[in-house]
Amino acid sequence: MALNRDEILDLLKQVNYPGLNRDLVSFGMVQDVEILPDGVNIYLEVASKDPDIPRRLDAVVKRGLEAKVPGRLQVFTKLKTGGESEAGPGHGHAHAQDPNQLPKLLNQVKHVVAVASGKGGVGKSAVASNLAVALAAAGYRTGLLDADIYGPSVQLIMGTLERPFVQDNKIIPLEAHGVHMLSIGHLIEEDAAMIWRGPMVMQALTQLMQDVLWPELDFMVVDMPPGTGDAQLTMAQRVKLSGVVVVTTPQEVALIDARKAITMFRKVEVPILGIIENMSWFQCPDTGRRHHIFGQGGGAREAVRQQVPLLAELPIDIRIRESGDLGRPIVTQDPVYAELFDQVVQAICRQLP
Ligand SMILES: Nc1ncnc2c1ncn2[C@@H]1O[C@H](COP(=O)(O)OP(=O)(O)OP(=O)(O)O)[C@@H](O)[C@H]1O
Ligand SMILES: [Mg+2]
Repeated sequence: MALNRDEILDLLKQVNYPGLNRDLVSFGMVQDVEILPDGVNIYLEVASKDPDIPRRLDAVVKRGLEAKVPGRLQVFTKLKTGGESEAGPGHGHAHAQDPNQLPKLLNQVKHVVAVASGKGGVGKSAVASNLAVALAAAGYRTGLLDADIYGPSVQLIMGTLERPFVQDNKIIPLEAHGVHMLSIGHLIEEDAAMIWRGPMVMQALTQLMQDVLWPELDFMVVDMPPGTGDAQLTMAQRVKLSGVVVVTTPQEVALIDARKAITMFRKVEVPILGIIENMSWFQCPDTGRRHHIFGQGGGAREAVRQQVPLLAELPIDIRIRESGDLGRPIVTQDPVYAELFDQVVQAICRQLP
């Protein structure tokens, strides 16, 4: 059965411009579709000076349509050069370089969940690692990406200090505790003092997503650096984040920064999946009494204020630090923590489609 013009246009809506994730129809490039007795002619017009573009367009259109269109399929591309009224991706490089316009990365992952905080040292990496292991234990195919280019630590917590293999210029992620993982710490020398400028941050993070053979995953947990800088912006622009888990300690100085992080993620329309309060108390082994070293209830109050769930409260526990230093996250060591993080997993999953 021959297709009509509208059906051909619908098919062209599925064909993306080479290298971008936007289709030819929405770019306004399709000038005409001609239905012939023995095939179809498609006429495109593109604002580009690149002489290779007609060949590439021919290839993507044929790949998208050939199996569905009976008969001969011909693609005629006219290059529009010069003039101020150009539109589309061929309009200089400014368009292609706007990060919001670039194709999204990590498309093979169902849910990318960032673990963030405002303040440093509140336990993001500990939470991110344990959360990833708990997701894997719950049966989800899980990855862990250490995006803290300033102070990568996930390789230590997960006990993967070896160098990853490279195959056809792609890095193969390491595996530990059921989790596929990679850290910028795997790619640079441990003691290297890196001064990262904005574009370098973006480039490094892009490589961690694009040049790594990440398998199909249900979850990718991303351990973020503290704050609201280039790394957060890059992740928000280049990945479709399902949400962010905000880690804070109970005291006001940490909460102030947590609020800033929440505000920033809300601005870029990333859902806040909840708050994890870390270092909530210390239980004295001698007396059994709980001491609220950093104050009490700050995380819970903030969760109410922000109208997000309080996902967990974690005590200060020497075993969390020790197990982290030994490459064995606490959920692999202690069923109480395994249960606690499993509750976090369930609370997160309830909020995702
Ligand atoms: N609940 C806890 N009890 C004891 N030690 C903890 C706890 N949470 C984290 N730690 C320890 O505190 C230190 C800092 O934690 P972590 O590296 O996870 O913080 P971070 O927020 O990722 O820091 P950064 O901002 O530098 O990335 C680590 O040595 C970790 O093992
Ligand atoms: Mg960290």
